Amino acid sequence: MSEVIVSRTDGVLELRLDRPAKKNALTFAMYAALTEGLQQAQGDPAVRATLITASGETFCAGNDIGDFLKPRDDSGAAHPSRFIEQLAGFDKPLVAAVQGPAIGVGATMLLHCDLVYAAPTARLRMPFVSLGLVPEAGSSLLLPRRVGDAIAAEMLLLGAWIHAERARELRLINDIVPSLTELAPFARQRAQELAACPPGALRTTRALLRGDTAALRARIQSEGAAFARCLTSPEAREALTAFLERRPPDFSKL
Ligand code: COA
Repeated sequence: MSEVIVSRTDGVLELRLDRPAKKNALTFAMYAALTEGLQQAQGDPAVRATLITASGETFCAGNDIGDFLKPRDDSGAAHPSRFIEQLAGFDKPLVAAVQGPAIGVGATMLLHCDLVYAAPTARLRMPFVSLGLVPEAGSSLLLPRRVGDAIAAEMLLLGAWIHAERARELRLINDIVPSLTELAPFARQRAQELAACPPGALRTTRALLRGDTAALRARIQSEGAAFARCLTSPEAREALTAFLERRPPDFSKL
């Protein structure tokens, strides 16, 4: 059974991450399903907005760490970058509803969303460096643009947690919905409002707000190349293996 549930209500396509026992960490198969869902939304004129939600108490714990350790020639290894390219090039409004941790790609994907609503439990983290990795999804470009260099350094170098209130102050999210049970319905309602807008004006306004995306696409490519190199490094292997073995990493001999 797919761990991404795709549903459609009127003009809104909803993609729900549904792997709560593993904190909605994204497997290669989930990336493929997300890419397919976005392609479906992009290709169907009746879909006017897309909503990303998640089951359970965690929005998304990032890439599945076991998948990170698979050989790079694994047949699924291209799915994360395909998803990121599809997300960055997506040309319809994207809304997200975030509860609990949003880590790694679970946080960087939010930088591509137009409206992000969060529960009070939401907290964002981009711990790439502590895993021996580098930022992805254009976050090394989009994050400093959004929050400034100092906060971006706090998040991308130190891997600092950003809790819901601070995320709102930093404009990483639009608003906090006080009750978890009301979060998805609230975000769905906003997506429905977008879906009811005149579609041409909506898409053109969104494109104007994004501006020229050439720099973003180039940065995604350069981050991707650096990320692939880092994945096979001894420091990343140690950090990722340590997570799966539930022990602190030891970089002292590297
Ligand atoms: N990849 C694979 N499995 C993951 C995962 C990930 N990114 N994140 C969590 N899981 C799994 C755990 O291994 C555990 O599996 P198990 O029950 O079979 O042992 C299960 O999800 C629950 O995780 P646990 O760490 O016990 O839950 P928690 O509530 O204490 O902490 C998180 C939740 C999300 C804060 C924590 O799991 C975490 O930090 N995950 C890693 C995030 C990360 O570094 N992602 C990569 C970013 S590039």
